[in-house]
Amino acid sequence: MDQSETALAILENIPLAPYTTLGVGGPARFFLRARTEEQILESMEFARVRSLPVFVLGGGSNLVVSDSGFPGVVVKIENEGIRPVGDRDSGRISVAAGVEWDAFVQHSVSRNLAGIECLSGIPGTVGGTPVQNVGAHGEEAGEVIARVCVFDRESRDITDLSNADCKFAYRSSIFNTTHKNRYIILSVDFILRVDGQPRIHYPDLQKRFGGGAHLPHVQEVREAVLQARREKGMVLNHDDPDTKSAGSFFKNPILELAALAKMEVEAREKRALNPAESIPQYTATPGKVKVPAAWLIEHAGFRKGFVHKNAGISGKHALALINRGGASAQDILELMRLIQDQVEAVFGVRLQPEPIFVGEFR
Ligand code: EPU
Repeated sequence: MDQSETALAILENIPLAPYTTLGVGGPARFFLRARTEEQILESMEFARVRSLPVFVLGGGSNLVVSDSGFPGVVVKIENEGIRPVGDRDSGRISVAAGVEWDAFVQHSVSRNLAGIECLSGIPGTVGGTPVQNVGAHGEEAGEVIARVCVFDRESRDITDLSNADCKFAYRSSIFNTTHKNRYIILSVDFILRVDGQPRIHYPDLQKRFGGGAHLPHVQEVREAVLQARREKGMVLNHDDPDTKSAGSFFKNPILELAALAKMEVEAREKRALNPAESIPQYTATPGKVKVPAAWLIEHAGFRKGFVHKNAGISGKHALALINRGGASAQDILELMRLIQDQVEAVFGVRLQPEPIFVGEFR
């Protein structure tokens, strides 16, 4: 019998740490593996009739689970399938939420489809990408998402959300802001570019490809991105303890130009900045700039490789908090607060965490 035809498996008191890339956190009261869309719906019903809270688990790459775990139902989304929609020339592909994100990127790149090659090597599943509008090296998932098919927990219907409905912005969408916990993502439709022409916006890639003199193939861009991510410890590798993380732990703050100027003056007064130095910045939206949180962390006095109990800062990138082995969620939380407090004391801005926190935190 095909696995998808087996009944929904209902497990109890299952430790969640092994299901996350950071590897911290206690057990789920119930743990359900949903291998088909029907099983996802069945899982929702299971939780509803018991009035238990639900947490939807994809690849677990952007999560901090509390040491006490989750007192409700964790549904692990494992539906599969990558399917072209309509005419091949439309570049439209429908992908089940449970598909591993990088497997989908590889699938697309090998078919000369452009639009997600810069998002190579990102851990997690397809269903997680719209939630925080995953982005890297100048591309964001929200730029190529045409439709998100969801189960609406309020109306208990399956419905389609358009790109505009999702309200994508930097690391945000309705799924992690206004409509948190309302929708369960079942599948995502992407429209990729059939001309296979990558867009090289990001300075590190522009430099790598000689400033646009030669337009690389999407496969070359994928390889360059994977290489860059490996160097930053942002590709999962069991032999590299710097990769036991939730990726970037903080968002890059977005500031008004006037606020940035004030920050610079104050940082110089506190000697966190030399008179000749300025704070790095990237244009975000007109009149606003994005400041790299990694830079703020290092200039607030933390070095790469900083240790706090069993948690630490990656030796390769100041924005990744790592589990050095045997860390508790509390260790990670304490380190997060140390960094937030210190960056705020020096630069006057409180860094906002990027991962989702699951369960109770003190
Ligand atoms: N920097 C430091 N110290 C470091 C690393 C970086 O000071 O250890 C400074 C440098 O000035 C550098 C700047 O930060 O030029 C930017 O660094 P980087 O290019 O690595 O990008 P980032 O802003 O730190 C963002 C995303 C990453 C994504 C990279 C590459 C966020 C929060 N993070 O990081 O996304 O891979 O760009 O495009 O926007 C993730 O979200 O989990 C993630 C890994």
